[in-house]
Order: sequence, then structure tokens, then C-alpha cells
Amino acid sequence: MKKQFLLLAMAGMVSLSSWAQDVVLENAKFHAGDDASWAGVNVDESSWRDIKNSATWTSQGVKIENGFGWYRYHVNILKSMLEKSDLKETVDFVLGGVDDADETYLNGQLIGKTGRFPSDEKGYASQWSTKRNYRVKANSSLIKWDADNVLAVRVYNAGDPGGMFEGPIRVRVPNTIDNLSINISEGTDGKGVVQSFSTLKSTMQASKSGVFSVKVVDPETGETLGEKSMKVSVNEKKGKTIAVPYDNHRMVRIVSTFTESKSGLSCTTQYIPKYILTPAAPAEPRFNTAPIYGVRPGSPVHFRFGVSGEKPMKFSAADLPAGLTLNPDNGALSGSIEKAGSYTFTVKARNAKGEQSQRFTIRCGSKIALTPPMGWNSWNCWGLSVTQDKVISSAKALIDKGLADYGYCYMNIDDGWEAKERNADGTIAVNEKFPSMKDLGDWLHSEGLKFGIYSSPGDLTCGGYLGSIDHELQDAESYNSWGIDYLKYDWCGYGRKHRTEPDNQTVASYVRPYLLMERCLRQQPRDIFYSLCQYGMADVWKWGEAVDANSWRTTGDITDTWASLYHIGFELQPELYPYAKPGHWNDPDMLIVGKVGWSNNLRDSRLTPDEQYTHISLWTLLASNMLIGCDIAQMDEFTVALLCNNEVNAVNQDILGKQAKRDVEDGSIQVWSRPLSDGSYAVGIFNVGGTDARVDFKKYFPQLGIKSLKSVRDLWRQQDLSTSDVSYFIPTHGVKYLKVTF
Ligand code: GAL
Repeated sequence: MKKQFLLLAMAGMVSLSSWAQDVVLENAKFHAGDDASWAGVNVDESSWRDIKNSATWTSQGVKIENGFGWYRYHVNILKSMLEKSDLKETVDFVLGGVDDADETYLNGQLIGKTGRFPSDEKGYASQWSTKRNYRVKANSSLIKWDADNVLAVRVYNAGDPGGMFEGPIRVRVPNTIDNLSINISEGTDGKGVVQSFSTLKSTMQASKSGVFSVKVVDPETGETLGEKSMKVSVNEKKGKTIAVPYDNHRMVRIVSTFTESKSGLSCTTQYIPKYILTPAAPAEPRFNTAPIYGVRPGSPVHFRFGVSGEKPMKFSAADLPAGLTLNPDNGALSGSIEKAGSYTFTVKARNAKGEQSQRFTIRCGSKIALTPPMGWNSWNCWGLSVTQDKVISSAKALIDKGLADYGYCYMNIDDGWEAKERNADGTIAVNEKFPSMKDLGDWLHSEGLKFGIYSSPGDLTCGGYLGSIDHELQDAESYNSWGIDYLKYDWCGYGRKHRTEPDNQTVASYVRPYLLMERCLRQQPRDIFYSLCQYGMADVWKWGEAVDANSWRTTGDITDTWASLYHIGFELQPELYPYAKPGHWNDPDMLIVGKVGWSNNLRDSRLTPDEQYTHISLWTLLASNMLIGCDIAQMDEFTVALLCNNEVNAVNQDILGKQAKRDVEDGSIQVWSRPLSDGSYAVGIFNVGGTDARVDFKKYFPQLGIKSLKSVRDLWRQQDLSTSDVSYFIPTHGVKYLKVTF
């Protein structure tokens, strides 16, 4: 049988196909510069250096900006490849991406070109990410079978880095099946029924026929839950799509296979569709937020009771502390309390289906953020393209889609709001994308939401906008006048100043700019959540509380890949649990679910559904800031359900404020747990490995100190489970998230 290669085509999708045997080229001879004769067969390579094609030339010590370099490969093209192929039509040279443009020659003749060089008629054009597949007819006299052939690649690079980077090169004689591919997506049919769409495509002129079958499979039992199969014929002009419905409230895999009739060869693609575990909220009012709120004496209160259930809803409270008023229509609490103390009262929510009340405590004292902040930040979606309208549209969606009913309340503008220059009096000015910060703040507050902003202690932010250096107090005063409730203060440009400071080896030098802004913020007559962003330098978790920071970023920037999530979540957080407490939280960065993109171009998070369950489970265990990073206006049903599970969020918001500890690391299984205020424990059993697993939870009882289990609850499904049978199926990169008592 043929060799099998695993191709990760996109998040949640894995393709398997039987490839014709191929020749793999990893190392080349390399020469900087440009000389047309280097395309030829007879070139003296004695002065050429060795280079790999799996990483850019820059990373291998070659510095060519705006210039050329040549790679030369010697390849024995095996006749046996031809014999093994059912097609025998072409020899393919698969190069992958090349930064930025290339011309590729076989034995001195041009066989392909991608991108354009500066000398080309239409001028330079980069095509660094385009996958190159150059084809030569198998009967061409250019190919020397079972002998040395020279493949020469002329590369032009603009800027930095450059060169071939997606190695290895594969030389192959493709089979029919290698020219066919299956792509799977999810959506709904005309009637709104959830469907998978499997599309078979061909890159060949000639029609190929065979059997195309799509199965919905339970990954735990292997059982086929749904199936469609048909005879099809496809060519480069005509593909075929098969739609198969599936239940999107359970974990399934879509497995689509095409078996070509003549060769008997087949290709398969697997896809993990999104599945919703959170049960629908009841129609009656239900309080979903922590029953506690911290405010300083005299500071304005901006709080919205998070209550799900049918709308309209009416709110009331009989014994509100003096100075506060409750908006009966949206549950927004406002006003201020003059005297420090603990104020407990009862709030009622009523709708057509029923009524519910909750005892609620306001702690008026020196501490705010008694539970981790929940809300939204513009960075992971809009990057520097954030505008006031985009903030408003996400805030409206936060309310309309019900996320505000689960406690999400901060609406934070990240980098990109500042003008090019300060006003004549030195105060900070906003750019044209933000017509009025004050109006925006007033509107958010009228909805019971909170308003956040971003700056840097340096001259410039990471995005190159104005920072606060030498204007700290003025900026804090501006924030106060706009009604700012949250400041993310990002080191960035300060690094330049720090490098010149004589004491820059000391912790004090890292603390200094943050302490300075803390003093300016605390002079303002309002509570401003103080979020440090300096990527964990100088063990910020050890001194964050001392500068009265409410949270501190513990890592560099997150992105929407498993590698990033794994590194930040599982590798960098295990030791940090002692530092989190009410008022002061570790911040492993913002959420990467929903539509993200760090620009105007948004895409679905590249995390699989199981990776997203892992992400939210781990972040709630870590008592992390829960800042949504996607455009809420475009948020789908899956993401809303992922972010609005009241039992899962209750772990994050637990008033004990204890961050989870990793109790078990057993190969690819990790168990993290945290104690909760009601005496129970939240336990996440994670499978960080590349294959599905069955885990016997009992095995880990000793490490968790469990002698006998009293109760087990599945937090995502909100269902009680057996205390005796505790063996769980956990998909690759997935989690079983439990609440246990023992
Ligand atoms: C980075 C920061 C990001 C984002 C960005 C803005 O330093 O870690 O979260 O704020 O700057 O330019």
C-alpha cells in the first residue's frame, strides 16, 4: 500500500489520502545574489553553502533584504514512481510557500513562477503564502529518469525575513486520488436544519467517478449516526457537495470518503463540527452573576444584574443602600455610597414566566474587582482598525445576545484610539474614529456596562500610537472625565526608556512606571480597574498586588492556535496559583473564540470546538480575566453558549477567588482543580494529546485527596453524574469539566 500522510487542512479538519511514493528534498546548496547561469545543470557549487528549506534564510543567518538568492537541489527522479502511479501523466514539484517570489528551473528550463520580481513589467508582487506546485509532463524529455536532475529555485525577497520556508519539497508522480480533495464545512439548510457540507473537488480535466460517502460518527463508540453515499463523477469544472444533517448538541465527527472506481484508491477528510453542551436557559428569571460587588467610598457604581430569562424583565430592590438607584428596565445599578461598609440587600427580577430574587452584597471599601473582570476587548478582533461604531455594535450585541445577562460588562478599547499629537495643553486627543469618548462612556453606563481603555507608560504604544509618558496625571484625569472604568497599561514603548536606565536589572525599574500610573489613577474620584500588560517580566505576579494592580498579564500575546493556547495555558500558568486573590488576578490574555483576526478581516477562531471547551474551562479554573476577543455582533450560537454557561462561569466568578492548581500530569492527561466557596471543587480533566482518550478519574483520587466521592456534576452539560462509574471519554485537546464534592 501507499505511504499515508496526515494533512491538517484547517481547524478541526484532517485529510488522509494515499499518495504516490515521492522523493523528499530538505537541504539545498545556496548562493546569495543573482546570476542567470545558476539555472543550468553544470554549475560549480563548491563555494555554495548548505541551507534547509524548512525555515527562512534569515533564520539561518542569511541577510538579504530586497534581493535575490538561489537554491539548487540534486534529485534522482525515480522511474518506480511512474510505475506505481495509475495516472502517469505528470511529475509534480511541490514547493509550498516561498517568501516572496520565485522562478523554478528543472535542468535549466523554467517550469514555474509565482509572484513578480521588481524588474517584471508590472513590478514586484509578493506571493509568499501561495503554495507552489509546478507540473512537468511525465513524457517530457526534460526529465531524466533514475538520474541526477537539477532543480534550481531563484528567490526574490523584499523586506525581512525571506527565502523558502515551507520545506520539504516533494517530487512525485501523482495518482488520480492525489488530484482530488474533500472539504467539509457546517451550516444550515433552507429550513434552518444544521447540516455538514462535504465537497469533493478535482484538479483534472478528465472526469473521474467513484463512490462518495459521508458519515456522521460518534467518536466515543464508533457508531455511525447518519450516512449518505452516492456514485459521483467529478472533473476540474464539476465538483460534488453532499449535505448530511447531524445533531449539533452532541460530539460527532463528519467522515467523508471518496473511493475512485478504477484505481480503488480513496481519500478521506475528517471534520469536528461545533457542538453545544450548555443547556438552554429557563424562561423564568435566573441570576447568573456573583452576588458580590466591590466599590470604593464615593466612587460611582456601574453594575448590571446579570439575569437570563424571557424579556421584558422588571427589576426591583426593597432595601437598596442609600445613594443607589436601580433601573427597573435593565437592572442597572447606579449612584454611589459614601460610607465604607458591607451592604446586603435583596434584588428581584420578574417576567411573564416568573420571579426570582437574590441576596446581594456591596462591599464598600478599598477593594474592587472582587471577582475577575468579564467583558470584551477590541484587540483580538479589530486590532488597530477599532472604531467607536465597532465598540457600540459589540456592546449592543452583548446586550441583545444575552451576554450581559451572564455578567459580561466591560467594553474595552485596546490600541488604536489615540490621535497623532496631543492637544496644545498636553492632554491626550482621540483620533477621528472616536468622535466622543464622553458620549460613549455615558451610553455604556446608562446600560449598566463599563468602559475600558488602553495606553502605555512609554512614548508609544505597541501599535505606534501615543503613550502616556510624562503625561500620566493628565491622562488619568482625561480618563476620569470620559468615565473610564478600566485601564490596560501596556509596557511596549517604555522598553526604550528602560534600556537606558542604570538600574534596569532591578525589579524596582519594572515597578516604577506602573506605580506612577497607579498613583495618578487613585487620585481620580472613580474606580479604575488597573490592568498591567508587560507580558510577565520580572515575575510581575510577585509585585502586581503591591502596585495595587487588579490584574497582570502573565504572558506574551495569545493567538487562535492550539500551540499558543497550550503554551500559555498549560505551560506558563501552573505555578501562578498562589498569586491570584479577590482584587488581584493573573491574566493569561484575552479569549480567542468566535470571529477574530486582529484587523478588519475576521475569521472563525482556528481552535477546534474541543479546544474551545478546553480554553474556557481552563480560563475559568485559572480565575482569569474573561475578556471576549471576537466581534460580538457576528457571534454564532455555539460561541454564545460557550461563553454563557452559568455553572462554568460561576467557577471563574467564585467569591473565594482561588486559582486552580495542576494536581496531575500523567502523559497527555492533566487534572487541574480549585476549591469553591460552597466547599466543592471544580476539576478539569484535560486531554492535551493528539488522540482521543478514555480516562479513569479514580486513578487520580489520591493526588486530589479524594477518599470517596459524594457528588459529581458535569459543568458543561449541567448534569449530575454517577459517583461510582467515573470513566470518561475525552476527545483530543478536549476536557471533562466537573464539580465534585467529597
Ligand atoms: C500588545 C499587547 C496586546 C495589544 C497590543 C496593542 O503589546 O500585548 O494585547 O494590546 O499590544 O498594540
